Amino acid sequence: MFFHFVLLVVSLVSFLRNFHASGCEPPDNVFFSVVNHTGPMIEGRQYTLQCAVQDVAPVENLNVTFYRGPTALGRLQPNNNAEKTPVTENFTLNITSSKEDDGVQYWCEAKLELGPEGPQQPPVVTSHKLTATVYYQPHLHGSSHPDPIIIPEGNPLQLNCSAVGNPRPSFNWTVPSDNPSPSNLSVLTINSVTSADNGLYTCCVSNNMGTLAVTFNVEVQDLNCTDKPEFTPSRLVVKHGDPTSASCSVCQKACIGHIFNVEASIGDSTKNGPTVSWTVDKLTEWSISPLCYYTDKDGKQCCVRLPITVYKPPDNVFFSVVNHTGPMIEGHQYTLQCAVQDVAPVENLNVTFYRGPTVLGRLQPNNNAEKTPVTENFTLNITSSKEDDGVLYWCEAELELGPEGPQQPPVVTSHKLTATVYYQPHLHGSPHPDPIIIPEGNPLQLNCSAVGNPRPSFNWTLPSDNPSPSNLSVLTINSVTSADNGLYTCCVSNNMGTHAVRFNVEVQANHIPIILGAIAVAVAVILILAGVGYHRFHRHNRTDSTT
Ligand SMILES: *[C@@H]1O[C@H](CO)[C@@H](O)[C@H](O)[C@H]1NC(C)=O
Ligand SMILES: *[C@@H]1O[C@H](CO)[C@@H](O)[C@H](O)[C@H]1NC(C)=O
Ligand SMILES: *[C@@H]1O[C@H](CO)[C@@H](O)[C@H](O)[C@H]1NC(C)=O
Ligand SMILES: *[C@@H]1O[C@H](CO)[C@@H](O)[C@H](O)[C@H]1NC(C)=O
Ligand SMILES: *[C@@H]1O[C@H](CO)[C@@H](O)[C@H](O)[C@H]1NC(C)=O
Ligand SMILES: *[C@@H]1O[C@H](CO)[C@@H](O)[C@H](O)[C@H]1NC(C)=O
Ligand SMILES: *[C@@H]1O[C@H](CO)[C@@H](O)[C@H](O)[C@H]1NC(C)=O
Ligand SMILES: *[C@@H]1O[C@H](CO)[C@@H](O)[C@H](O)[C@H]1NC(C)=O
Ligand SMILES: *[C@@H]1O[C@H](CO)[C@@H](O)[C@H](O)[C@H]1NC(C)=O
Ligand SMILES: *[C@@H]1O[C@H](CO)[C@@H](O)[C@H](O)[C@H]1NC(C)=O
Ligand SMILES: *[C@@H]1O[C@H](CO)[C@@H](O)[C@H](O)[C@H]1NC(C)=O
Ligand SMILES: *[C@@H]1O[C@H](CO)[C@@H](O)[C@H](O)[C@H]1NC(C)=O
Repeated sequence: MFFHFVLLVVSLVSFLRNFHASGCEPPDNVFFSVVNHTGPMIEGRQYTLQCAVQDVAPVENLNVTFYRGPTALGRLQPNNNAEKTPVTENFTLNITSSKEDDGVQYWCEAKLELGPEGPQQPPVVTSHKLTATVYYQPHLHGSSHPDPIIIPEGNPLQLNCSAVGNPRPSFNWTVPSDNPSPSNLSVLTINSVTSADNGLYTCCVSNNMGTLAVTFNVEVQDLNCTDKPEFTPSRLVVKHGDPTSASCSVCQKACIGHIFNVEASIGDSTKNGPTVSWTVDKLTEWSISPLCYYTDKDGKQCCVRLPITVYKPPDNVFFSVVNHTGPMIEGHQYTLQCAVQDVAPVENLNVTFYRGPTVLGRLQPNNNAEKTPVTENFTLNITSSKEDDGVLYWCEAELELGPEGPQQPPVVTSHKLTATVYYQPHLHGSPHPDPIIIPEGNPLQLNCSAVGNPRPSFNWTLPSDNPSPSNLSVLTINSVTSADNGLYTCCVSNNMGTHAVRFNVEVQANHIPIILGAIAVAVAVILILAGVGYHRFHRHNRTDSTT
């Protein structure tokens, strides 16, 4: 026990001595980078990986290894450098990126190889790992298809041009009929081919690195049925879980010796002469297309498929405003969302957004050929205005099933959401004269009625510097005096804003009493003067007569 301890101490001491004797200094830090480059790499281009080893000594014992995931890409030693004190050195390695490098981790490792006298575990410092993104043009995945693709009329056809690429590629199709691209998916599906589907199909797969064109040469085999089987009705639209039936008149003419039937994954077929009835008590499949066929004496086959649309109205339609509750603010943008749950087939869906009775927008799902029920969200952006305060928003999901569908197409309506829109006060009513001229003694009404949400408050500033006499929209003075002359300001405010309305009031002084008083005084003076004059005249006359 004691012996073991002594041995341990001795070996530790010898290790430390050796370590120092060699002047060993493991690197402080090891940085991995791509020289002059950030962001995604491009397939086929050359990049220089760099490993910066900081403060290491002795540099001649250094061994730098570059890794791609777990694989060593290259091992580098410094160029003859006899420097014993710590140095910082950069090591580089050139690589050419390939699409297989997308997502791999690059890194490097610096190791001091100190020989048999060195520590048993040579000092190693590892850089951080850098995950590479490599952009590359689309490449097909999957096997090649036969050329031409020979397919009998009435059969389903799938053309698959699945491809990988970075960024994720987009797909578009050119079809023989010169119709616009029927799909932006990698797989083009035709439920039942006809001779019109004969010809050349091109799938264009592209991303910003390049484009790949895949051509499919489709030969629809004409069964040349002069006496073709016929389904009545020729198309079915059935609610999932409902019963349904159709009959196939196999051959109108001689059916002698023909082998015929209706083939379907569910339901019963009953023959009655050259007619086959197909019935299902409960249609529980989402994708079904019964085949009515016959094979004549020569082995020639003739068939027709019955296309069936299996539908299911949505379980629920939820209306909401994305990431928002409570009142809206005038002028802000909001995203309305209509979440339609469990509807099939989604391609027949039509979603309408309403504002009260008005249609705001009608949306269809993006090319989605899924036949089983799906849940999909539809969104519409609006900018709220004060006129939207109090209106009802809602949405509606409708399945448009065509003339074979139910008379009343299935419609599910969301609940209605009453919008509250906050907006700053807006005056209502006509402008007032400026100035407002009013004779003294008259009543005066100043009206600054306004609407706003929340309901605005009013305060008034008077010429007299008195405190606001009213918190109503109308200020009333029963009888104006000259003291009421001046500027009135009505402040209408809510938490959305403030609006100030100014009224310039000029009170006209009333002069009538003064004029009347002046006239009265004048009349009195005249009367007095006249009285005095008369008196004097008579006294004079009397004096004359006495003399
Ligand atoms: C890095 O880019 C700079 C400027 O673009 C250039 O001067 C320098 O030579 C480049 N270094 C390498 C190693 O390519
Ligand atoms: C090593 O590379 C770094 C950048 O990663 C640079 O700043 C430094 O100057 C380089 N040192 C030498 C000695 O080349
Ligand atoms: C790596 O590539 C650069 C140019 O990108 C070149 O200057 C350098 O010599 C190459 N290094 C090696 C080791 O091939
Ligand atoms: C670097 O590592 C390799 C392989 O492990 C080895 O052969 C070589 O001797 C080492 N270089 C030094 C300087 O120790
Ligand atoms: C299309 O081909 C790819 C690759 O072979 C395959 O993974 C995918 O399942 C195919 N899609 C269909 C619908 O057949
Ligand atoms: C299909 O993609 C190709 C290549 O990106 C483009 O030239 C062509 O206009 C596209 N066609 C349609 C119908 O989008
Ligand atoms: C189809 O049948 C008709 C009459 O039976 C015949 O005249 C015609 O050539 C046939 N067409 C093909 C493409 O076999
Ligand atoms: C909703 O809000 C969350 C968190 O605030 C955010 O991460 C998300 O992107 C928002 N969604 C939309 C559609 O704006
Ligand atoms: C649809 O919206 C709801 C929230 O209303 C969210 O929980 C769900 O993940 C969304 N579904 C899809 C497919 O975007
Ligand atoms: C709706 O607005 C959001 C941002 O609020 C934006 O990301 C989105 O593209 C807009 N949608 C439409 C259909 O304009
Ligand atoms: C959606 O409704 C509009 C107008 O009613 C109609 O023109 C359109 O064909 C409908 N879309 C589908 C997929 O039925
Ligand atoms: C009147 O309202 C304005 C704006 O809200 C405010 O600045 C002012 O102090 C108010 N005056 C009185 C007397 O309340």
